[in-house]
Amino acid sequence: MAKTKTVYHCTECGAQAPKWQGQCPGCGEWNTLVESIATPAPARFRNVAGAKSTVTPLAHVAPQENRRIATGLPEFDRVLGGGLVAGGVVLLGGDPGIGKSTLLLQASAALGAAHRTLYVTGEESTDQIALRAQRLGLVNAPVELLAEVQLEAIVAAIDTTTPEFVVVDSIQTVYTEALQSAPGSVAQVRECAAQLTRYAKQRGVAMIFVGHVTKEGAIAGPRVLEHIVDTVLYFEGEPHSSFRLVRAIKNRYGAANELGVFAMSERGLKGVTNPSALFLSRHGDPVPGSAIVATLEGSRPLLVEIQALVDPVHGGGMTRRLAVGLDPQRLALLLAVLHRHGGVETAGYDVFVNAVGGVRIGEPAADLAVLLAVNSSLRNKPLPDKLMVFGEVGLAGEIRPVQRGLERIREAAKLGFRTVLMPTANRPKQGIDDVALVTVDRIDAALAHVRD
Ligand code: TYD
Ligand code: MG
Repeated sequence: MAKTKTVYHCTECGAQAPKWQGQCPGCGEWNTLVESIATPAPARFRNVAGAKSTVTPLAHVAPQENRRIATGLPEFDRVLGGGLVAGGVVLLGGDPGIGKSTLLLQASAALGAAHRTLYVTGEESTDQIALRAQRLGLVNAPVELLAEVQLEAIVAAIDTTTPEFVVVDSIQTVYTEALQSAPGSVAQVRECAAQLTRYAKQRGVAMIFVGHVTKEGAIAGPRVLEHIVDTVLYFEGEPHSSFRLVRAIKNRYGAANELGVFAMSERGLKGVTNPSALFLSRHGDPVPGSAIVATLEGSRPLLVEIQALVDPVHGGGMTRRLAVGLDPQRLALLLAVLHRHGGVETAGYDVFVNAVGGVRIGEPAADLAVLLAVNSSLRNKPLPDKLMVFGEVGLAGEIRPVQRGLERIREAAKLGFRTVLMPTANRPKQGIDDVALVTVDRIDAALAHVRD
């Protein structure tokens, strides 16, 4: 094979250098030079978007409806925005052992019946995959396996077998001869992902890359990986619980922030159809420090229990604020609002807050539930039974409306909640059967409601 010329270029400013250097000659940043193939950029990246250099009025473009390929796992299809798309490339990130290979083997097996499927494994041998298939009861699944890590060989295999769906497990193990950098390095991962993506688009092949995550939780390798692919999914979940969440972070073919819920069982991942029931812990009687919020993850509301523990600091040490599944910065902010506008002092106390079930809540609709859980733990007094709470809390102590309040109320009603404490501005025009709606404008009004 003819030796390809490589150059080094800066990930910050784009400057090029013929050899690796610690410092970029262009912008002076350190450790930003990565290797790449020295062909002119247009030749390597042409066709990625299928763009032609003619100008077309928007109105004349007739978009083609993307045909969806259902994966046979409805929860997975939900996060994908209805299924895989021919020529669409998905990146699936997640901690080791969370179940990425399991999910993709299950999807491959289900898809394989109607669409020729190739599973490229760079981490495990075909024997190991077969063992997993045995465990999943999928030994006779119509899936073709390829244990290969070299990009050129993978592309050649796809060329000859012409699959419609390809899994690459994982993209970090794939390397190309054209670069001298070690497999798994930023340069290798980026180049291989870009080449496979371009190939997928040319051939109309649906692909899923498994991506490793770093300690910080981002997909290892360059951030650009997320820009190259069409869809980025993260596999989340607590190691000690059997529940797994697949979250769409980016999706060119559907809604981002969509959430799929699975349970890991003896025989693989099973979709959970009623996830709300799952995140509510089953206390016999109401306990102090617990509040239920309806959070909106993607297209559906999810009832989640927020637990707080407020405990005096022992030995005069520093107070600790810890938030699991919620933003710690936001917790600090909310405690300040609680003090200033609610007259509830938490200085001198450790405050721990947890969103039960390993779910991560990013939206401010949980603010009010966090504050009421904290207040409840501090006073050692449970919130009223069958109460659901939602609402954003502002710095001035006001309770602000959140999007799609009605859906949240309906979800609570469906699961047997009898009272909803919510922002006034979210009050629906019509009442909801069997549910009392208590609307509040300010944090002190919310505290007053739970005091008696
Ligand atoms: P795996 O899919 O190998 O994880 P990843 O590819 O993300 O690293 O999943 C491995 C874990 O899943 C392992 O701890 C065993 C567990 N598991 C089950 O509980 N049930 C099953 O049916 C299978 C196949 C795996
Ligand atoms: Mg794996």
